[in-house]
Order: sequence, then C-alpha cells, then structure tokens
Amino acid sequence: MTSVATLRAPEPSGARRSVPRRYLMCRPDHFEVRYAINPWMDTTAPVDRVLALAQWETLRATYERHGHRVEVIAGEPGLPDMVFAANGGLVIGDRALSARFANAERIAEGPSYHRWMAGLGMRSLVAAIEINEGEGDFAVTPRHILAGTGFRTASAAHREVESHFERPVISLELVDPRFYHLDTALMVLGDTIAYYPSAFAPASAALLAELYPGAVIATSEDANVLGLNGVCDGYHVFLSDRAVALARQLESRGYSPIGVDMSELLKAGGSVKCCTLEIHCGTSEPPQSSEAPE
Ligand code: ARG
Repeated sequence: MTSVATLRAPEPSGARRSVPRRYLMCRPDHFEVRYAINPWMDTTAPVDRVLALAQWETLRATYERHGHRVEVIAGEPGLPDMVFAANGGLVIGDRALSARFANAERIAEGPSYHRWMAGLGMRSLVAAIEINEGEGDFAVTPRHILAGTGFRTASAAHREVESHFERPVISLELVDPRFYHLDTALMVLGDTIAYYPSAFAPASAALLAELYPGAVIATSEDANVLGLNGVCDGYHVFLSDRAVALARQLESRGYSPIGVDMSELLKAGGSVKCCTLEIHCGTSEPPQSSEAPE
C-alpha cells in the first residue's frame, strides 16, 4: 500500500502550458432520453437532437481549434447514451481496458468501444471483468488514478485497473446520486484537481483534502450544472458555460477556461468530459508542446 504522503501532489508549478491531446468522441446521432438511469434523466422532457448535435460539433471543433486531435466512433441505433465516450473504457500508453457497464441499457456499448480500441493496436487490450464505466469513474493523474465507486463502477474494478495498468489506484466513494460518476464531481487539472466535497463520503473527502491541499473547491451551484465535468489540457479547461464561478476560480489559478454550451446533453446527465475519452499517451510527464497562452 502506497502511503498518502508519497502520493500527495506537489505545489502547482509556475506557467501552465497546453499539451496536445488525443480524444475519442461519439456523435450523438442516436441521442435521446428514453430511459432514466440517473436523476438528471427525465423521459418526459423533450430532447432536441439537432441542438445536441450542434453542441457536440462545437465541442469537437473547440478541441481541434486548441490543437487537439479528435477521433470519432460511430454511434449505434438503440444506444442513446453512447455519445458519452468517457464511459467506453480506459486507454493509457500501450494498454487499454474496455468498459463493462452497470445498467442493462448500456451493456452493448462495451463491445463497441472494445472493437474501436482493438484498432489502436495496443500491446494489451482487455475487456473489464468487473463493472467498470471507464473514465466516468477513473481519473488519470500524472501520479496515480483516482477511482470512484458507489453508483456504477465496482470497487473490485479499482483493483483490476491497478493491476492491468500497474499504476496506484486511489478509491473514492461517491454518495450523492446526482454525482453518480467520479467525473461529475471531480476534474483533473494536471498537478491538482477541482472537486465538490459533498459528493464524497466523509473519509473520501478527507483523503482528497490530504492529497490535494491546493485543490479548487467547487460551489454547489457549479457542481449542480456539472461544471466539474470538464477537460483540462494543462492550460485550457473546457467546461460548461454555466459554471461561471468555477471558470473565475480557474482563471485566478492561471488556467484558461473555455465555456461550452452542453444544455441538451445535460438532460442525460452528461457534459464536456462525459463526451470525451482521452487516449492518454502514458508517460507521467506529457511531451513538450506549444506555450500557453494562445
Ligand atoms: N446517461 C448516461 C448514464 O447515466 C450519462 C453518462 C455520463 N457520463 C459520464 N462520464 N459521467 O450512464
């Protein structure tokens, strides 16, 4: 067992810089809310798929404009939540693991993401044995992997990920059903994190406070618009344009927040990060790249 002291994040260092990333996204061609597996989903509220597609295209274009490579997996009829690519699994370096979904409605997505990952030519690709909703519940940091459990991903999956990727995994318990995946309550900001403490069991919130004494603490207003469901490239933070106070906090820490309207996808309980699976290059120090600011 690695001690907390050795895992604690160092103080954030000087200027931030954007590092080109590789993302997988899934076009919401079949997006709808026709079942409810989280408290955000209301099957009686209409969803505008054309608007969802436009918002998704804007997010994709925003990533590309900021220097990131976006790959797209085809959505499948009958899998309305497949747009939430973060749940498809975990890819780090030359290893990958495809998801095993908790809910019957999403189970068929696992093999689809697995087939896509097979095309990456990884040294090691496995299908998860334990219930595992990919980057929805696993947040890759330079030193370790933070892992959520409580609603979807089983804690046994934390051990499975630890042995497959040979990286320390830190388990965190989620307790509020609105924050059913780790990525709804916590976002990695390179050397630190932003999170919403009330989404976690007291012991897990205490552990985060100890690991990340300098973390950004989100307000309930920002958490309640899934503002923490964002993606950081080292300098830019792509997040819901409704998370106004969080954007200001990020700015004061030297990040550049980029607000995106994700209102239609929010109706299924997802935002920016849910739509994005990062293909992590796998080294603990990302490669050198362009200097921030733009
Ligand atoms: N409706 C989807 C579900 O409940 C939303 C998934 C959001 N994805 C995420 N990474 N948080 O499974």
